[in-house]
Amino acid sequence: MAKKILCVFGTRPEAVKMAPVVRALEGAKGRLRVSVCVTAQHRALLDDVLRVFSVRPRWDLGVMRENQTLSDLTRRVVGKIPPVLEKAGPDLVLVHGDTASMFLTALACFHHRVPVGHVEAGLRSFDIGRPFPEEANRRLGDAVSSVHFAPTRTAKENLLRENIPASNIYVTGNTVVDALLWAAGRPHRFANARLRYFLRSAVPARARLAVLTAHRRENFGRPMKDVFSAVRAAAGRFPGLRFVYPVHPNPNVRLAAEKALSGHDRILLLPPLSYLDFCGLLKRSDFVVTDSGGLQEEAPSLGKPVLVLRDVTERPEAVKAGTARLVGTGFEKVLGEISRLVREPETLRRMSGAVNPYGDGRAAARVRDGVLHYFGMGPRPKDFSRI
Ligand code: UD1
Repeated sequence: MAKKILCVFGTRPEAVKMAPVVRALEGAKGRLRVSVCVTAQHRALLDDVLRVFSVRPRWDLGVMRENQTLSDLTRRVVGKIPPVLEKAGPDLVLVHGDTASMFLTALACFHHRVPVGHVEAGLRSFDIGRPFPEEANRRLGDAVSSVHFAPTRTAKENLLRENIPASNIYVTGNTVVDALLWAAGRPHRFANARLRYFLRSAVPARARLAVLTAHRRENFGRPMKDVFSAVRAAAGRFPGLRFVYPVHPNPNVRLAAEKALSGHDRILLLPPLSYLDFCGLLKRSDFVVTDSGGLQEEAPSLGKPVLVLRDVTERPEAVKAGTARLVGTGFEKVLGEISRLVREPETLRRMSGAVNPYGDGRAAARVRDGVLHYFGMGPRPKDFSRI
């Protein structure tokens, strides 16, 4: 009999990273039966990705509220998952990453004795406060999961140190690379008219184009303000430098970004872009300045250096590989590192040339094969290994 797999996720990055997994699981028809539940922790951001990847959720919990607190979110997710488990009767629930949706779903499954498979398991910054609350979500989610899909060998080693048995860990690569290679390989015309216009008329051929994103809770307030001041200063210092910044809708981010960065003709502030526009922008860019985890994994696939606006990272592989540099959020340091990439073409070239340690585009297939192996329906897939 086919095993029932329920995939649950709620934010945009989880949807991007789980869409290839849903596709791959659907490919094992007869052996696996897949359904999708979205918590919709993100509403607008999520729906675009579902459309792009043609993922049709069977359940939509609609938990998002404007300016939601973590406690509100917790109450709603934990309350709404059990009835879905009852109706779906899954043999395994797959969750992803480090969000509140991931951990709270895993917890509800644990309470109901439904086994959980954690995709992107084992990432650790080793600082419980940074990123907040994601580092706690990861550790707690891994603790209550039965199967672990670690993207890299480093992530697997972190799990082994926490006494997770090796037999329950599969090293798969990161599915974000599967999604990105698919999207970046398609011909694309920018849907966002302001972006299209800016790229055509405000970015001269020899200009450097940087993509900026920021949304981490631990960077709200002073750190974010300092970063924005550094970006504005860099744009003032280099006439040939342009920034495009799709601003996260979280009010803590949006208001600060508008206050610090609007009204500068070399900085384009945009609402969140569709996934395909974002991939197209990434392709066009020269480098990325971000506090996002997913972007640290995506950018190297397109050969784009990343300046990471954090002091610690749970993704040390890109730093080791030389495609990313941890720069923190201090004004001088951020300005200095941006200036370096603009002034030193050799540094930019070196960082662009490094290999992507996170994936080869076949991670979702390894997750599927891991699921089949877990149920005794196939051989153990070979571990992904790049560095
Ligand atoms: C969440 C995740 C974070 C992940 C990030 C990716 C948690 C605790 N945080 O952070 O791990 O890296 O998503 O984006 O799980 N909003 C909208 N429309 C949307 C989405 C968000 O208006 O489609 C606004 C709402 O006001 C919402 C706020 O953003 O209250 C914050 O959303 P929330 O999911 O709580 O946190 P994020 O900062 O997005």
